[in-house]
Amino acid sequence: MSTAPRTVDELTGPRPLPVVGNLVRMRTDREGHRAYDRWAREYGPTYLLRFGRMPIVVSGDGPIVEAVLRDRPHGFTRTRVGPVLEGLGIDGVFGAEGERWRRLRKLAAQSLNAAYLREYFTTITRSGTRLRTRWASAAADGRPVDVLDDMMRFTLDVTTTLAIGHDLNALEAAGDGLHRRLAELFPEIGRRLYAPVPLHRWITLPRDRRRERAMREVDALVRVAYAEARSRAATGAKPRTFLEALAGVADVTHEELVGNVLTMLLAGQDTTSSTAAWTLHYLSRHPEAQQRVRNEAVAAFGPSGMPADPGPLRALPFTDAAIREAMRLRPIAPVMGFRPTRDTVLPGTGYDLRLPAGQSILLLLAHGARSVDDPDAFRPERWLGDNPPTPAPLHPFGAGPRFCPGHNLALVEVALVTALLCRDFRLTPDGGPVGEKLAFTAFPTGLRLRLGVGQ
Ligand code: HEM
Repeated sequence: MSTAPRTVDELTGPRPLPVVGNLVRMRTDREGHRAYDRWAREYGPTYLLRFGRMPIVVSGDGPIVEAVLRDRPHGFTRTRVGPVLEGLGIDGVFGAEGERWRRLRKLAAQSLNAAYLREYFTTITRSGTRLRTRWASAAADGRPVDVLDDMMRFTLDVTTTLAIGHDLNALEAAGDGLHRRLAELFPEIGRRLYAPVPLHRWITLPRDRRRERAMREVDALVRVAYAEARSRAATGAKPRTFLEALAGVADVTHEELVGNVLTMLLAGQDTTSSTAAWTLHYLSRHPEAQQRVRNEAVAAFGPSGMPADPGPLRALPFTDAAIREAMRLRPIAPVMGFRPTRDTVLPGTGYDLRLPAGQSILLLLAHGARSVDDPDAFRPERWLGDNPPTPAPLHPFGAGPRFCPGHNLALVEVALVTALLCRDFRLTPDGGPVGEKLAFTAFPTGLRLRLGVGQ
């Protein structure tokens, strides 16, 4: 390209208000994060916002998104999330940068390696059985189920067992418990990420005290589990949990252990539970698609019981397509923030973009979701066959060196619960409005389903 790269000042975007910039419009805009996509259609895929006086570049332009995601860890770092996580004691691979990230990433990738999935599968099916029992009881009583809450209990049980070997059993627990306090820890990240004023630095609320209690409990659990993990590592046995993988590393501090365990719980819980919840939401509104998932599950798993290994999950192409379609319509990470470590020029579609070191850029990871036929329709079929769509950018698991290391595990969890619950229950909407909220991840609100039984 012969023209000079465009600078940040040359970008256009929605008009900022004095002092607050575009913040008020962001907060009052009922579309939430969808406003970013609408502005990309209005002002072009790369545009400018102001948070207060701070300029923020936003881009859903495929080549720019790819270039940023791939140029890590050296060229770009995550924005804001690192310090927010560190402030909450969740100091692990997600927020780490540079050489520290490289070391932690290797450990995370090793312990989430596809080779372990077979061993993890028993944990996943144990939690799947409990979830089914919980739903059978709701069906017998004629009660609707709170889908997101139940999916969070399921993923929390799975990730706690895989991270530290501790069975929290949130699916069968009643009343208060660590799972409830942990459930309060993670929304705090969203609150701190999007708070215009960091009130938490000066005011301690009851929820802060509950969170501190959860941290102390996790700390104690990790201390005990790590002592056991070290004894096991000393025998040369293959690690079975994330903590056991860390036990083989000499220079890891107690804070790093707690931070990394919490990171796994954080990265593995909300993400997977929201994806499963949205998939069930769409299937409840599309009875024919739901029946196709049911038929597939009966053929792959049999009319009752649980598969003994992950093999039958490979025989669920339609279920897999339904999950992809739910991720296209409701990505849990639609927007992610980055910052260049040095002055850089990014190759855009119509023009190149010059970014000075430290300039925040928000990437729209799912802007390509609308570049398919009939983009608002839930059509799993579009992912089947030899020519599935390749809308760019559409990166539900990110891309490049920091691509989600838990994606195999996540897809096994979501496929198992989706197929199992559709096989054993008829899902219908409860009738109330279903919304979406963006905290650390985007998640459904008000999602209740009624359950019928019978195939
Ligand atoms: C459907 C479920 C999931 C989705 C949609 C998802 C999505 C993502 C995304 C978008 C990122 C950022 C990637 C990037 O920066 O390029 C990420 C990072 C990460 N995810 Fe997942 N994730 C899911 C489940 C999981 C699970 C089950 C685990 C592990 C238990 C996990 C562990 C991680 C970790 C450790 C990172 C940080 C990687 C790094 O910074 O190097 N995720 N995930």
